Formats: sequence, structure tokens, C-alpha cells
Amino acid sequence: MLEKKWWHNSVVYQIYPRSFYDSNNDGIGDLKGIISKLDYLRKLGIDVIWLSPVYKSPNDDNGYDISDYRDIMDEFGTMEDMDNLLSEANSRGIKILMDLVVNHTSDENIWFKNAVRDENSKYRDYYVFRKAVDGKVPNDLGSIFSGSAWELDEKSGEYYLHLFSKKQPDLNWENEDMRNEVYDMINFWLDKGVGGFRLDVIDLVGKQPDQCITGNGPKLHDYLQEMNLRSFGNKDVLTVGETWGATPEIAKLYSNPNRNELSMVFQFEHISLDEIPGKSKWDLAPLDFIKLKEVFNKWQTELSNDGWNSLFWNNHDLPRIVSRWGNDSKEYRELSSKMLATVLHMQKGTPYIYQGEEIGMTNVKFDSIEDYRDIELLNMYKERMENGYQKDDIMKSIYAKGRDNARTPMHWDGSINGGFSNVAPWIKVNPNYVDINVENNLKDSDSVFNHYKQLISIRKENDVVVYGDFKLLDRNHKSIFAYIRELNNERLFIVANFYVNNEEFILGKDIKFEGVEILLSNYKDSSEDIEKLNLRPYEAIIYKLK
Ligand code: NOJ
Repeated sequence: MLEKKWWHNSVVYQIYPRSFYDSNNDGIGDLKGIISKLDYLRKLGIDVIWLSPVYKSPNDDNGYDISDYRDIMDEFGTMEDMDNLLSEANSRGIKILMDLVVNHTSDENIWFKNAVRDENSKYRDYYVFRKAVDGKVPNDLGSIFSGSAWELDEKSGEYYLHLFSKKQPDLNWENEDMRNEVYDMINFWLDKGVGGFRLDVIDLVGKQPDQCITGNGPKLHDYLQEMNLRSFGNKDVLTVGETWGATPEIAKLYSNPNRNELSMVFQFEHISLDEIPGKSKWDLAPLDFIKLKEVFNKWQTELSNDGWNSLFWNNHDLPRIVSRWGNDSKEYRELSSKMLATVLHMQKGTPYIYQGEEIGMTNVKFDSIEDYRDIELLNMYKERMENGYQKDDIMKSIYAKGRDNARTPMHWDGSINGGFSNVAPWIKVNPNYVDINVENNLKDSDSVFNHYKQLISIRKENDVVVYGDFKLLDRNHKSIFAYIRELNNERLFIVANFYVNNEEFILGKDIKFEGVEILLSNYKDSSEDIEKLNLRPYEAIIYKLK
């Protein structure tokens, strides 16, 4: 049995500050805006806020390019606002997780400026500079944001590594001084009373660029153990690593409490199942539902008691789940949003809700590429246009997978710009804010918001949700996701129709029970005859078995 931790039964809410709430009407969300919405979050029942980066940044990648780790982005406010946010959140029992982006900095960070200005400065080795090979880039490493991962530093004639945009030079984790500065910076934020950190692409810090190794490099876990020892290890905080490509075995390295690395992983296996294998996320394929169940089952069972996982459908890099694997039509948007939430939140792990998910916000379709803002998407568009792809196909990929789907402003009410701002926001608002907004959700006891709220309170009231074993039922059913959670004498049976057609579900005879109680359903009159259920479109029910 795992030693209990506060973050085992916590629910995290992710805020993308730029798009959350604009308090000073400059079209950009800000810290004061977040403070003014803390009571809303408290109503939802979340425990922790993961704040996407708010540090000083030239915003090539919306704050994931940090120019000063100890200062706040002008558009978002001041350090005083940040201190207020921490104390206002803490006074409501909400902890703040900072986004720790330490695989790379901005090229406008003083470290990088020094590294470029003076080849002999100690900062040169904080980054990865390499000589040209035959007058060209050192090797074939590609940037995740298209093109080569090497950019020429004209002054020295050497190339520097950037696994993301060329304004995001990679840090060299082999350099001990650099690591020490990072640990000092982490301690600076811990001293301010933050509740923990989300570690951006932390799987990349062990990179060995000369061998073209990026993820899961040989020294990755040594660095994390060192970081733990030197900073947050003796504090009761939540640390979550963005760990692309983790398997359950790798996840145990990160999150087994005996190893003193991180609290939990945030891995993407389930959320990468609608792309052509071996290609990129832009190469669309239909979701393989049986595989989705298999992947969840694997993570639920194999991590066992030797690690901890995050549960999520959404974040600022992913399309909106209701448009992706639910149904965002007028008729089914709310039902399918609730179904998806139910399937996820009754699993083992720490759930993450991304702003707007709790009201069932959807993807957006801008006609013009000019209306998009995300560097990843714009680079891809340019590259594919140059390579002769059809514009319609590129737009289809953007509509399905573009990160801006998640980044349009939050819908607070039906007024102009969804109540986000009085002036034109930095990115257009999704026009469906008129119907889909917080105000409408709060008025309606049957809303998506209230469904999320109930899921959170079911987790809080039932240890079986937090610690129970997971057993997948009828794994080959082509439309239904069903599982049992069990802890001591408590059992929950979760059953959900993932699709729009009515579907029958027969419960295995091996599951014995004397009676049932419905804890939550997205229909008013769900059946209690669980031996044979006829589930309606997107129907999702949580039963307590007696
Ligand atoms: C992962 C972040 O989630 C994403 O938004 C960002 O672009 C990259 N890391 C680079 O920091």
C-alpha cells in the first residue's frame, strides 16, 4: 500500500493565464484576473492550480520561453500580484503549481545573451553549441516545432541546439553551475510558498545531442534525484513531470516514492491514439477505441503501488476533448462532455481539468490562418505549404489538433468576448460563447460544471476512487467502456457508452452483488438493472455495488 499523500485525492485545475480572465482590458488575461476567479474555482472544488508560465518572456511560445525566472511577465502583472495570488489562493485552501520550464530558456534570457556575447563566458556551456560540420548543421536532429534543431549563431559560426523554436535554446544539463542556478531558482519559488511544480518536457533534460538522443537520456534520473535533494525533496509539495514517451516502467522511475524524484507523471499514451503511427500528430487517424481501453487498463494496473499517474483529456497543447472524442453537436455536447469526464475521473490517479473543460468548451475553426497564433501550428502550416500539401488538408489537421483550440479565451458569460475582456483579445473568442459559458453553467443544476463538481466530491468521499484496484470489463466491446473499482468492501461499477448509438451491456456473472445505488449519471432515469443495460447515446453511470 502506498503511503497516503495529500495530492492523491486532489484535483488539479490548469490555468492558461493569457486566456483566463483579463482584469485590465488589454486583451490579455492576467494575475489579477485569476485572483478574481478563485471563488469560482473553489465552487468547483479543485485543490490545486497549475499555472502555465507567468515569468518574464518575449512570448515566442507564450511564456514557455523564459527570459527571467524570477520576474513576472508585464502583461500578467507584477511580483506583488503574484504574491497576492499565492496568499489569496492559500487562504482558500488552493495550492499553486508553477510551470518549471528548465529544458530551455528564451534566447532573451541573460544567460543566453552572455553565452552569445562572449564565447569564453561561463554561460557558453549553459547551452549546447556545436561547430558546423562541412559548413552545415552538426546533425539531423529536428525541432519539435518543424525544421532543424540547430540554429546558426552568426557571431561565432557555431550552431546552438533548440528542440523547440529557435528562440528557445536548450540548456546543457551536463553543466553543474547551470543546474545549481536552476535549483536556487526552484528554492526561490518554494520560499514564496508555492505548492509545487509542473516540470515542462522534463524527459528531455538528459539529452545527448551528439548521439541524437533527446528523450529519456542516460542521466535524466540522476538529474531529477539531484534536483529533488537540492530543492523540493524535503517539502510536502506536488511535482508532476511532463513525460512524453513514458511507459509504466519508466513512470515508476520517476514516481516511485522510494526513488525521490517526482510525485507523479503526466504521460500521453492514451491521448496519442488518433494519429498515424510513426508519423506526427498532424497526420490524422480515427481513434482506436479498443486500444484506448487497453492503454488505460495498462496504466491503471501496471503502475500498481510503485508510482502515481495523472488523469487528463486536455491541456494547453491538446484539442478540446468534447470535439475530439465526444460529440460537440448541440444535441450531444453536454452528454458527451459528462461521459468523458466520468470515464476519466473514476480512475486511479490525480485528475487534471483544463480551463473551460468543466463547461464543455469546444474546438474552434478560424477560416483564415491569420487568426491563429501558435508557433507550432504556424511553423507546420508554412512547412507543409512549402512541401506541396493541400491547404484544405492542412486546415483539417489544424482544426483537429491545433493547440489554439485550447487557447481561445475562457467563456465567462454571454456578453462581448464571452466576458473575458472588453477589448479584442489576443486571439479570437470561439463564437459559441453565447451558449457555452460559466454563467449558464452555474444557473443550471444539470450542467457540465455541476457534473464535474459532483465527480470531484465523489472522489473526495470515496477512498475507493483514489486507491481502489481497477478491473476493465468486456475489453472488446466496441462502444462501451466499463470497469470496476474495488477497495476492501467498497465497489464501484462505472459504465459508459462512448458513442451515439444505443448499446447493450451484459455484466459478467462473476460480479456478485445484492443491490446497487446510482452515485451519478448523465441521464435522469438511468436503469438499476445492471445485469443487462441498454445505454443511450453517451450515457455514463457510476454505480455503487452492495
Ligand atoms: C511543453 C509545453 O506544454 C508546450 O506548450 C511548450 O510549447 C513546450 N513544452 C516547450 O516548452
